[in-house]
This record gives sequence, C-alpha cells and structure tokens, in this order.
Amino acid sequence: MQNTAGIPLLTPQLPDRVALQPYLERIDLSRHYSNFGPLVGELETRLASNFTARNNLPLQVVTVSSATAGLELALTSLDLPPGSRVLVPALTFVASLTAILRAGHLPVICDIDPHSWLLTPEIAEACIASSDAKAIIAVATFGQAQDTSHWHALQQKTGVKVVIDAAAAYGSQWLDTTNIPIVFSMHATKSLAAGEGGFVVTGNSEQRQMIKELSNFGINLNPDAQHPVGHLSYAGTNAKLSEYHAAVALASLDTWQQQADARQAIYHRYQHLLQSLCGESLIWQRGPLPAAPTTFSVRVGSDARRIKLEQLCAVQGIGTRRWYQPLLHQHAAKVGPIMHLPTPVAESVSADLIGLPFSPFLQDEQMRAVAANVQAVVSEIA
Ligand SMILES: Cc1ncc(COP(=O)(O)O)c(C=O)c1O
Repeated sequence: MQNTAGIPLLTPQLPDRVALQPYLERIDLSRHYSNFGPLVGELETRLASNFTARNNLPLQVVTVSSATAGLELALTSLDLPPGSRVLVPALTFVASLTAILRAGHLPVICDIDPHSWLLTPEIAEACIASSDAKAIIAVATFGQAQDTSHWHALQQKTGVKVVIDAAAAYGSQWLDTTNIPIVFSMHATKSLAAGEGGFVVTGNSEQRQMIKELSNFGINLNPDAQHPVGHLSYAGTNAKLSEYHAAVALASLDTWQQQADARQAIYHRYQHLLQSLCGESLIWQRGPLPAAPTTFSVRVGSDARRIKLEQLCAVQGIGTRRWYQPLLHQHAAKVGPIMHLPTPVAESVSADLIGLPFSPFLQDEQMRAVAANVQAVVSEIA
C-alpha cells in the first residue's frame, strides 16, 4: 500500500523551536519586541548585504508586516497623483491589485507573455500608450524573476515608475539597478518564511526612509527633516515587523540554502517525471527554474482535463489549486474601479492552469501518485 493517502497542496517549512531559541533568548534579554528592534535591524542588514553582494550595488532593505503592505507602501513612496493608472498583469495574486486600490490608484489590468507568463517590459510599453499609465507593478509570477535592467530601461525611456512584486521569488529575483523597489513576502508558504512578513529592497535611501516612516504610522523619524521627529510626515499605517517575526526570518535565513536546494531538486524530479509520462501534452512556464520554488503549476491542455484531474485528486485527498485564478479583472469588479485592457493570453493560460501539490517534504511515491492522475486525464481526454 503506497503512502499517498492525502497529499497536501502545500506544507510550509519553518524553523523549529531549537533553531529559534538563540533568537528568542535575545528578545528575552533585550525586552525589545517591536518598533525597529535589534533583530529587525540584523535581518535588514543581512538581507541588504545579500542583495548588494549579488550585483555590487549599494542596496538597502526595509522590513514590513507583509508583501501586501510593502506593495502598498512602495507604491505610495512613488508620490504619484491620486487616481494614477497603474499597470498590473491579469495573472497574479489579488494583493497586487488591492495594493493599487488601497494606495488610491486605478489598476490597469494587462496581458502576459505566452511563454514566461510574465508581464514583460515589451507588453507594458504597448499598454502605457493605450492607458496613460504612470506606474507598473511587474510580478515575478510563480517565483520567475523579472529582468530589472530591462525594466530600468523602460522606466528611463518613459518616465513610468516600476515596482516589482517578487513575493514568491526570494533567491531568484535580484536587483541590478538602484531605482526600482522590489517587494518580497515572508509568509509561511514562501521560501524565506517568517510566518507573516515582507521586505522591500531599494537602492534609494530616501525611498527606504519613506517606506519605513509609512510603516510606522507616517511619523517622521528623521532629525534632519524640516519638521520635528515624532510629528506626522504622511498618513501612514502600522506595517512594522515584530522582533518575533524577525527571529523566525533570521532562523530561516540560517538554513535557507539547504532548503532552497531541496526545493529545487524536488521540483526538478517532479517536472521530469511528468514530462516523461505526459510529454508534449503539458505546457510549462518557460524560463529558469526558480532558486527556491514554492508552488508547482502546469497547463494540462484543456479545461475538461483540468476539471477531471481536480475531481480525481479530490477523491484521493490530493490538494490542487487554481493559483492566481480567477484573473484579476474577474475579481476586481466587486472591489473597485479598474481599467481592463485585452488579456487574451492570460485568459488562455488560465483556461487550463492548475497547481499540484508541492513542498520540500514531497515524497517520490507522492509525486508518482499525482503524476499518475495527470497521465490518466491526459491520455483519456484528447
Ligand atoms: C504575487 C504575490 N503578491 C503578493 C502576495 C502577498 O504576500 P503577503 O502574504 O506577504 O502579503 C503574494 C502571496 O502569495 C503573491 O503571490
């Protein structure tokens, strides 16, 4: 009897209490629990040095309570006129949309590339002309990195500001320019997990300071500013990362490389198995494998196959999820005004895209059980 009964869609991997202990002891000693404490400072310094070392650029990090908050504050830091149009791809998590609305702007939902499933600078450039967009949220969809030098070139050419939503792309997404902020998530399901949390990487120290102040109610923290420290500079929010979350993030960072290698090895074996069983019937996101994948999505060729696969998996207790679906414009009508440009590629990708179980704990026999279901529907339904 195979041990495949019930395969969860995701199983988060967070540091255990032994790994957390040294950090928790430091919190006990310092009695500093939030408000930019020493662990938050250490986390920001460690992350910043990772990003700086990668491209030898002076990059800085500011932590926030989630990527969603980070996106909203990064957009606010662009200082756009209220109601500005902001491009966002149709295939992404809802937070990319809600951050635009909550920052007081108008989401302009646009299409993605048929191969990488990303909003690319080329697609965005065409959409700027038809929408008068003033900013862009480019998403590192499913952990696939965005090319920041191409986005930088577009920003220079058009004046349209770019923010990268790299929520699930820690380890894959780097920054090779100083004037584009990148937002990462440290949610429990992400590769650098703190339970909840996020951070923004930027090469612009004024932008970092503004995001930090916005995350602390908008209170001025800068003694060199025109008005006193402690007075409001902006209508901010409370999006600070607590010392406890920083402790978990630091412990995650200590073993990040081993975890990333394990995730990548499993992803690679799983994809290889499905390719060997189903060949050309499956369509994969094209591009380099993410450094630390967190989800596993594939196009199965038709909605009929997808429905059958979902049914087959459901009766066996195997989790599936249509990640990033419905598409943004299919949600948005209920929550706020949007502009919707034609999105034929996103519609076609979302017609047969399905997320299959994936975690660093996935066993080979579990992979085989999932793959057998995929093979069954692919061979049964033309
Ligand atoms: C593309 C994208 N953006 C934003 C988020 C939100 O991240 P958080 O949960 O840290 O707010 C997610 C979470 O899955 C995501 O996939």
